[in-house]
Amino acid sequence: MKKTPVIIDCDPGYDDALALVLALGNETLDVKAITAVAGNVPLERTYKNAVRICHYFGKEVRIGLGAVKPLVRELETGEMVHSPSGLGGVTIPEEVPMPKKENAIEVIKSVLEEADEKVTLIPIGPLTNIALFVSQYPELRNKIQEIVIMGGAAREGNRTASAEFNIYADAEAARIVFESGIPIVMAGLDVTNAFQILPETFSEYRAMGKTGVFVSEVLERYFDFYQTLGGVFKGPAIHDMVPVAYVIDPTVCVAKEYHVDVECCGEFTYGRTVVDFGGLSPDKNVKVLFESDHQRIIGMLKDSICHLNRR
Ligand code: RIB
Ligand code: CA
Repeated sequence: MKKTPVIIDCDPGYDDALALVLALGNETLDVKAITAVAGNVPLERTYKNAVRICHYFGKEVRIGLGAVKPLVRELETGEMVHSPSGLGGVTIPEEVPMPKKENAIEVIKSVLEEADEKVTLIPIGPLTNIALFVSQYPELRNKIQEIVIMGGAAREGNRTASAEFNIYADAEAARIVFESGIPIVMAGLDVTNAFQILPETFSEYRAMGKTGVFVSEVLERYFDFYQTLGGVFKGPAIHDMVPVAYVIDPTVCVAKEYHVDVECCGEFTYGRTVVDFGGLSPDKNVKVLFESDHQRIIGMLKDSICHLNRR
């Protein structure tokens, strides 16, 4: 079977962990590398969590050590959502063999140079690493099929009224990526907030072997935060799974092309992804996702769980 080569840039993080399960267990994706970025928790933790997850599932994947802070601003993390360790309450080994540290930008460079076809990048954290890569190696932009991000929002934000967390964390990086000329797909809050896994289904995952227990623990800990939001969410929104599901099968989402800019100056609007719904700009640089087929994505997750259990 022809597989889709991908690199996942992440800040695990509970929903990042589920996105990694979905990707590592999917038989149509070839995960060439994982790169860690500072975001939900500091880089040391996001990197270690990526290593712990791959070790737990017996996946030997190159893991790159990325940016320790945003391009310009200071790092603002999200421990209140993802716990101080990034995977608090999830019982996988804390101490695992650590690989030889590789710079994330150089990992992306070598994967693209060695690939005999274009590679899809799936950033599901702040875009610092991606901005650094496209700036440092512009000649390799033509080896990127598309950049499918979890980030942004056409409507309201979740970090501020205007901005979604990943973009807000490093809007300057996001602007570089959105203006790079590389095809962008934006799985923003418009599509990801609605993708909630309901607590009454958590027991289904707990009964699905080693991987299912991992998934159920992540869901339960992630839901701890969502329960503090006054009933607005019926279950945790698994933001980072949506871009991975889109790369597996784009028909699971509804996409519309628009011009999108990233606000980097506004006092109340810093980090906003400004979607040109009026079609004022001819440069439709982004496919914005608005809806997704939740049951099909759940089916993909369950397939990945079964596949990882067989390893
Ligand atoms: O706004 C949701 C995004 O911020 C997700 O990627 C989550 O992991 C956090 O990084
Ligand atoms: Ca993330």
